[in-house]
Amino acid sequence: MAFGTFGVNGIKKTEPIKDEKDSTMELLAKKKKELDDLSFEVLGNVIDQITLSTDSSDMIQKRTVQDKVNETVNNILFETKRHLSLGDKQRVCNSVMDEIYGYGPITTLLNDPTVTEVMVNGPKNIFVERGGKITKTEHSFRDDRHVMHIIDKIISPLGRRVDESSPLVDARLPDGSRVNIIIPPLSIKGPSITIRKFSVDPYTLEDLISFGTLNADMAKLLRASVRGRVNVLVSGGTGSGKTTLLNVLSGFIPNDERIVTVEDAAELQLQQEHVVTLEARPANIEGKGRITIRDLVVNTLRMRPDRIVVGEVRSGEALDMLQAMNTGHDGSLTTIHANTPRDSLARLETMVMMSGMELPSRAIREQVTSAINLIVQVARFTDGTRKITKITEIVGMESDTITLQDIYVFRQDGFNERGGVIGKHIPTGIVPNFLEKIKAHGDNIPASVFKTVDLSAESSQRRY
Ligand SMILES: Nc1ncnc2c1ncn2[C@@H]1O[C@H](COP(=O)(O)OP(=O)(O)OP(=O)(O)O)[C@@H](O)[C@H]1O
Ligand SMILES: [Mg+2]
Repeated sequence: MAFGTFGVNGIKKTEPIKDEKDSTMELLAKKKKELDDLSFEVLGNVIDQITLSTDSSDMIQKRTVQDKVNETVNNILFETKRHLSLGDKQRVCNSVMDEIYGYGPITTLLNDPTVTEVMVNGPKNIFVERGGKITKTEHSFRDDRHVMHIIDKIISPLGRRVDESSPLVDARLPDGSRVNIIIPPLSIKGPSITIRKFSVDPYTLEDLISFGTLNADMAKLLRASVRGRVNVLVSGGTGSGKTTLLNVLSGFIPNDERIVTVEDAAELQLQQEHVVTLEARPANIEGKGRITIRDLVVNTLRMRPDRIVVGEVRSGEALDMLQAMNTGHDGSLTTIHANTPRDSLARLETMVMMSGMELPSRAIREQVTSAINLIVQVARFTDGTRKITKITEIVGMESDTITLQDIYVFRQDGFNERGGVIGKHIPTGIVPNFLEKIKAHGDNIPASVFKTVDLSAESSQRRY
């Protein structure tokens, strides 16, 4: 709101005046409320008059319902002597159809291919992520009950429920999108829904190179590493691109190998022929039947896999994964939630401790050192881009500490005028020890590739 200064009777007085922007916003909000109220009224009317078959793909029924909605909108407008533009009328009809056949106010966001994530923080705050940037939308629910109704639409076909006694649920939409739901009292400001949309057309290696996530030399190293059965851990924070990178790395596994994937919610999309996809299962309504990632990893070992790909290690399965990597299932891949390679090791150690097996720290570190060869650290930057910030080799142990050496690092030089990150991926000059292993599998990466081009990278050459 702007403040204007007026002279009244010679006395200067400062009082608020509404600028144009404020009044336009108010008008828009009023209009939106008017349309929302009308949609609600139409919905109430239509629902009483139709019986929906359970087959949501029934196009004839959908057309009949659509006609009924149009007719009801026209009737209400006529009876209440109101007039709406064609565009607004269409908006009302669409929103009623979205309530009946979709997920209410978030339907169009879910159908928008440029949206990658939809976040509902209570009824009035709906955010989306597009091109890595999070923005607030104009969409809203009427109230908490409306959000709960849509939540019910999402989870009841899956035989799940959410209520005060079980206030959080992980689920998937029929198109594969990953959904997390958390409701009061855990979520203080109303029911919250987070949907990571399933990408029908996942990013390829070429996409990631063109986004600047990594450069072509790093891609060659990663491809050769996966083919050469180097064990890789992808580490990164929430939404930093771990799963996307894991998907690309898994794509490097030769076609004639048997791959078993284990995930909480099946997100990976491997193109190879010989893939077994396993998905963990939460407990049912009676609290029974839970199958954990760990159960699946253990089972995987009886399935004669050449490679095991675990979507994310979060708990005791870390120990089973390390043991698998150490016992002939090398070339396995997984991700972990951590902000630096060093941090990922600490987390891994904690996870192994959660396995229930009482192992001294040193023994765990030895397991880690002999199991994992390479850590690929990813991060989401302020401009929404995702980049590999480090490719780090696990070298061995010095006393009780695991030694790491960076092979590539991202050096950020600043920002451009639009807030975009400027920087470069550079080799540190260190030639990885596992080159020999890679060579044995037929890929030859000349040591000269790792020659550092920039003296300022020297500081990261140290082992740490
Ligand atoms: N290299 C990339 N460049 C641009 N966008 C990316 C990149 N990698 C992933 N994304 C986008 O970022 C979002 C998160 O990606 P992804 O699911 O891979 O992250 P994650 O680290 O596995 O997240 P979570 O911690 O929630 O499991 C997705 O919308 C995806 O399309
Ligand atoms: Mg993920």
